[in-house]
Amino acid sequence: MAKPKTKRVNVCLIGQKFMGRAHSNAYLKAARFFDLPVEPVMHTIVARDAAGVASFAERWGWAQSSVDWKRAIRDEAIDLVDVTTPNNKHLEFVLEALDAGKHVACEKPLAATLSDARLMRDAARKAKKSRTFVWYNYRRVPAVAAAYQLAREGRLGRIYHVRAFYLQGWASSPDIPLIWRFDKKQAGSGSLGDLGAHVIDMARFITGEEFSEVTGALSQTFIKERTIPTEAGGAGIASGAKSSGKKGKVTVDDAILAIGHLTGGSVFSLEATRFATGRENKNGVEINGEKGSLYFNFEDLNNLYYFDATASRHVQGWTKIQASVPGVHPYQAAYWPTAHPLGYEHAFVNQAVDMFRVLGGQRPEVPLPDFADAYETQRVLEAIEVAARDRSPVKLSSIQ
Ligand SMILES: NC(=O)c1ccc[n+]([C@@H]2O[C@H](COP(=O)([O-])OP(=O)(O)OC[C@H]3O[C@@H](n4cnc5c(N)ncnc54)[C@H](O)[C@@H]3O)[C@@H](O)[C@H]2O)c1
Repeated sequence: MAKPKTKRVNVCLIGQKFMGRAHSNAYLKAARFFDLPVEPVMHTIVARDAAGVASFAERWGWAQSSVDWKRAIRDEAIDLVDVTTPNNKHLEFVLEALDAGKHVACEKPLAATLSDARLMRDAARKAKKSRTFVWYNYRRVPAVAAAYQLAREGRLGRIYHVRAFYLQGWASSPDIPLIWRFDKKQAGSGSLGDLGAHVIDMARFITGEEFSEVTGALSQTFIKERTIPTEAGGAGIASGAKSSGKKGKVTVDDAILAIGHLTGGSVFSLEATRFATGRENKNGVEINGEKGSLYFNFEDLNNLYYFDATASRHVQGWTKIQASVPGVHPYQAAYWPTAHPLGYEHAFVNQAVDMFRVLGGQRPEVPLPDFADAYETQRVLEAIEVAARDRSPVKLSSIQ
């Protein structure tokens, strides 16, 4: 008997650098490792440089390439538009795609500004037939998804402390040029939106609580000017950009610290910086509750640490859970046998998988952030910016 035809989901990806590669790899692998209710099709890749995007298409398996983003988005064949451009360049593509009735995936943070993010959230609300997704991909590192599940099992009890951190060190070199990540107009903020956004989302995701107040925050820029690179670029170019010889101003934070409260009454601290020399990608949370604690750090991404405060005192201690047992820990069954670890790219594959599950009428393994959800993280970014700027507490209820 002939197999019933699976619905195809034709994807149009915008952007072909760091995230362009990560998402292309995710689309390539999703249906190889997982059984999906739809068939993902790598239909069109869009970027500004015709030759570059054509060779990218060939390398990664996109059927078509284009430099005409409007036409590509409006193409009737396209079902899902995925945006991986700098933060200030999300809005235009997203509004066009929603207006054309497409499903939309967008990189984080949702936008460079709260007002852009609000326009996107509101447009998504009106586009009743469109599903939206935001690439807070760390939710789909199996150890983080396992932390979510442990919290849902009630293993934390009342939460006292949420300690969120995202520490990188690459920007501490003055030789790193003025890429878009240092420009407020394009990025919105520096370490806050680039890094802090991820762990704000992670804290919200695992605890199920919202931020209610930023009691205090400080923001600092250590290197105030950098050389202007000869070509536009992002993370990739940060290590190899050619300098034009001219200097320009850094207009974002290099480091941010914030403290405050979550809705359940716990206290939080957040630290995000690109100047923590020796910390390459220390991204995670520690959550301390009455019944237990959880700790995750991306530099040790296959492990989740759990402390059971209800265990007998003589056996209490941190348990290192290697979150890679097929059928026990999220996503692992589709990959390899126990303790054959996963890497950075798998969280993107897992997100693509869950997006296609949703588009095929199935449930994601753990909740996916949509625009409304990512807007809540954007409100926290805004509250921290305002608290740092005004040196005063900010209630989240005042940021709408
Ligand atoms: N989820 C994550 O873990 C993660 C990691 C890194 C970056 N990001 C986010 O992804 C987005 C892109 O970051 P990146 O590191 O890939 O940046 P990047 O600079 O490496 O790539 C940006 C891409 O956008 C393209 N672009 C810029 N303006 C464009 C336009 N007008 N039309 C078409 N293409 C255009 C560039 O040519 C490039 O291909 C940002 O929102 C960033 O915050 C997310």
